[in-house]
Amino acid sequence: MMTFQGSHILSVSQFDRDAIAKILTVSAQMMPYAARKKRCYVLDGAILSNLFFEPSTRTRVSFGTAFNLLGGFVRETVGEENSSLSKGESLFDTAQVISGYSDVIAMRHPKMHSVSEFAQGSTVPVINGGDGANEHPTQALLDLFTIQSEMAKFDKGLDGLNIVLMGDLKHGRTVHSLSKLLSLYHKVKITMVSPKALQMPDAVVSTLTNAGHEVIITDTMAGNLACDVIYQTRIQQERFASKGEADLYRGHFSLNRNIYRKYCRENTVIMHPLPRDSRPEANELDTDLNDLENLAIFRQAQNGVLVRMALFALTLGVEDQLSQYEKPVNWYSNK
Ligand code: NCD
Repeated sequence: MMTFQGSHILSVSQFDRDAIAKILTVSAQMMPYAARKKRCYVLDGAILSNLFFEPSTRTRVSFGTAFNLLGGFVRETVGEENSSLSKGESLFDTAQVISGYSDVIAMRHPKMHSVSEFAQGSTVPVINGGDGANEHPTQALLDLFTIQSEMAKFDKGLDGLNIVLMGDLKHGRTVHSLSKLLSLYHKVKITMVSPKALQMPDAVVSTLTNAGHEVIITDTMAGNLACDVIYQTRIQQERFASKGEADLYRGHFSLNRNIYRKYCRENTVIMHPLPRDSRPEANELDTDLNDLENLAIFRQAQNGVLVRMALFALTLGVEDQLSQYEKPVNWYSNK
């Protein structure tokens, strides 16, 4: 199995099943802290630099929250225009400087492979929070954690999973990373529903087919949604040449209660990395799905804290010391 301590987390390709099992196990150990049953200060004094050069709500805040929940401090910079990258500084130089200030770095950047380039200049572990349309490894891990915990309710696991990925599969980095992770399991059936122009890149499809999984590529929902999990995604407008071009593909696969009842199974779990585009022209997941027990989207976002806590504990080598550094929670909490 890979060594986590001191390692960068740049792509899901660096994990095998044992490494993933380790991450998911440590993630589950974080539950009492995330639920404010106990505090953990194993990272007391450590500093995370959270560098977000592209818009983010969940990923940025949950990285920071995860680090704080382990007792560490967070420094943050947001937007390329507010950093010296806009003065022409290279990613390598920025990495040399910021890694001198910190113990670990989380970073999101609009350019593919930029986080790996940055990592070459860093003396501390760098965790990829999304590099353009390439990858989003921490999202894929939290997606996997979510699939595992949602499927456990039906006595199912990751092997034999029947999943539908829907929407902008060309530009969506979350579905790229998730597909690569799923390829490590047994007998997965993956149905990819997207407009023809936004199909999953061939390299990702072949990772699945080479591993013997069944892949169905289609541009229609009818007859294709009877699955364990439906994973809806947003049209990634920022990856198109113009808003007008993205508009061409918006709203093709809006999921609402009617369509769910008609085409999904009784227990199909609905996931989405979020943000869901709720504007009427997109309406990716209608609000009429909100009171459905199988709508897992907010549990999924919550799981991001657990998985990111686990990755910090593992890369900083404290995963076996959590229970030695606990304190009671002093404030009211109804989590
Ligand atoms: C995703 C992303 O940034 O790739 N968001 C997230 O991190 N949860 C998905 C998206 O923006 O559509």
